[in-house]
Amino acid sequence: MSSDQRFFDFLKDRIGLDVASVGAAIIERAVRQRTTASKALSADEYWQTLQGSRDEQQALIEAVIVPETWFFRYPESFATLAKLASKRLTEINHMRALRILSLPCSTGEEPYSIAMALLDAGLKPHQFKVEGMDVSPLSVEKAKRAVYGKNSFRGQDIAFRERHFSAEDDGYKLSERVLEQVRLQVANLLDPTLLANEPPYDFVFCRNLLIYFDQPTQQQVFEVLKRLTHVDGVLFIGPAEGSLLGRLGMRSIGIAQSFAFSRQSLAEPEPLPSAFAPTSTPLPTPLPTPQPVRRVTPPPPVRSRPFAAVAPLANTSTTANSDAAALLASIAALANEGKSTEARAACELYLRSHEPVAQVFYWLGLLSDVAGRALEAQGFYRKALYLEPQHPDALMHLAALLQSQGDTAGARRLQERAARSERAADSERKR
Ligand SMILES: C[S@@+](CC[C@H](N)C(=O)[O-])C[C@H]1O[C@@H](n2cnc3c(N)ncnc32)[C@H](O)[C@@H]1O
Repeated sequence: MSSDQRFFDFLKDRIGLDVASVGAAIIERAVRQRTTASKALSADEYWQTLQGSRDEQQALIEAVIVPETWFFRYPESFATLAKLASKRLTEINHMRALRILSLPCSTGEEPYSIAMALLDAGLKPHQFKVEGMDVSPLSVEKAKRAVYGKNSFRGQDIAFRERHFSAEDDGYKLSERVLEQVRLQVANLLDPTLLANEPPYDFVFCRNLLIYFDQPTQQQVFEVLKRLTHVDGVLFIGPAEGSLLGRLGMRSIGIAQSFAFSRQSLAEPEPLPSAFAPTSTPLPTPLPTPQPVRRVTPPPPVRSRPFAAVAPLANTSTTANSDAAALLASIAALANEGKSTEARAACELYLRSHEPVAQVFYWLGLLSDVAGRALEAQGFYRKALYLEPQHPDALMHLAALLQSQGDTAGARRLQERAARSERAADSERKR
C-alpha cells in the first residue's frame, strides 16, 4: 500500500520532492508513520485524512524533509559574500540596506551565518537585512528560538561561537545583535506567488534543496531564483547544483568553493581579504571549467586542524585502524569546510597508507564534482560503487551528474538502485 503513487505525487506537487532523489523507501516510511499516528486503518483512509487536513499535510511534509545544515557550511561562500557585500554597498552609494535571502533556511544556521559574516566583516547593522524562509514551520520555529547544539558547529574554525553565542544549559544561544538582522518566515519555493511584489535581492542563497528536485522542477525553480536575484546580484547554490545554471544564462563568478553565480561574468576576482579567507588559496577558475589537478604539499601543522594531526604517515598494524578512522573523519571535516585541497591530499594519503574504501573514492568524486571536473568525478564515484555497490551518496551524486549531462536513463537506473538499497536497509532495520 505504501508505494502508492498518490503520496509521491502529492509531495512532488507540494514541495517539489522527487521520489527518486531520496528513494521510495523514505517516503513510504513517512507515510506509514503518519498513517499510524493519524489512526487511519488503510492507505485509502489515510489518503482521505490527508486530503481533508492541512495540519496532516504539513505533518507528512515534516516527516520527509531533510533539515541537515550547520553554521558556515562551505566557509568560502561566506568570505566571498562579505567581500561582495562591501562592493555592492559602494555600487548603490550606501543608499539602502542590502537585501539578502536564504531559502531554504532550515533551522537558521545559514541566514545567521550570513549575518555573522557581514557583521564580522565590519558592516553596520543598518547596512543589511537577511530574510530566511523554509517550508517547514517546525524548522522555522527552531530557527527563531536560536539555541543550537554541537551538531550545528561542525567546522574546525568555530571562533565565531565565542563572539556571537552564550552557553546555556541546553546549548548555545545566539546573540540579540545577530538575531535582529534576520527575519524568518515559512515559505514554499514552489509557491507561484512567492515574493511576487518584493524587490529583488542583492544576494540569494538557495543551497541543498535543488538536489531533491527532478530536472523540470529545477528548471522552474531556477527561473524563480533568477527573478529573485537582482540583475547585479549573486546567487549562491550548493556544490552539486550548478550544472543547470549555465543553460539559464548565469555564470560562475569564478571563486572556487563559493558556488556563486551572477547574470554576467564578473572581473577576475581578487584574493579574499577578510578574516574568513580560506587557509589554502582557492583556484580562481570558474567552477564548470575543468581545472588541472594540483598536487599540493600538505600545509604546515596548525594545531586546530585535524589534517595536521593526521599528516604523519603512521602505519603500524596496531594503529592502522584508528588511523584510518581518524583520517576518514578528517577528510569529511575538511571537505565539509570547503578545504578541497587539503581534503584531496588527505584522501591520497589514505589510499597510500590503507586498503581502499568506497568512502574515500566518494569524497574524491565529490571534490572533483565541486571543481567542475565531471569526468574525473564519474570515475571516482564508479570506483566507490565498485567497492560498495550500494554506497548511497555515491549512487545519488553519480545519478545527479548523469542527469546533468542529459543521461536520464542512466540517472534513473542509479536512483532506482539507491531506492532499492534504501528499502533493503529499511527491512533489515525492522528485523
Ligand atoms: C538540507 S536543508 C538546506 C539548508 C541550508 N540551505 C543548507 O544548505 O545548509 C533543506 C531544507 O529545504 C526545505 N525545503 C524542502 N522543500 C522546500 C520547498 N519547496 N520550499 C522551501 N523549503 C523547502 C526543508 O524543509 C529543509 O529545511
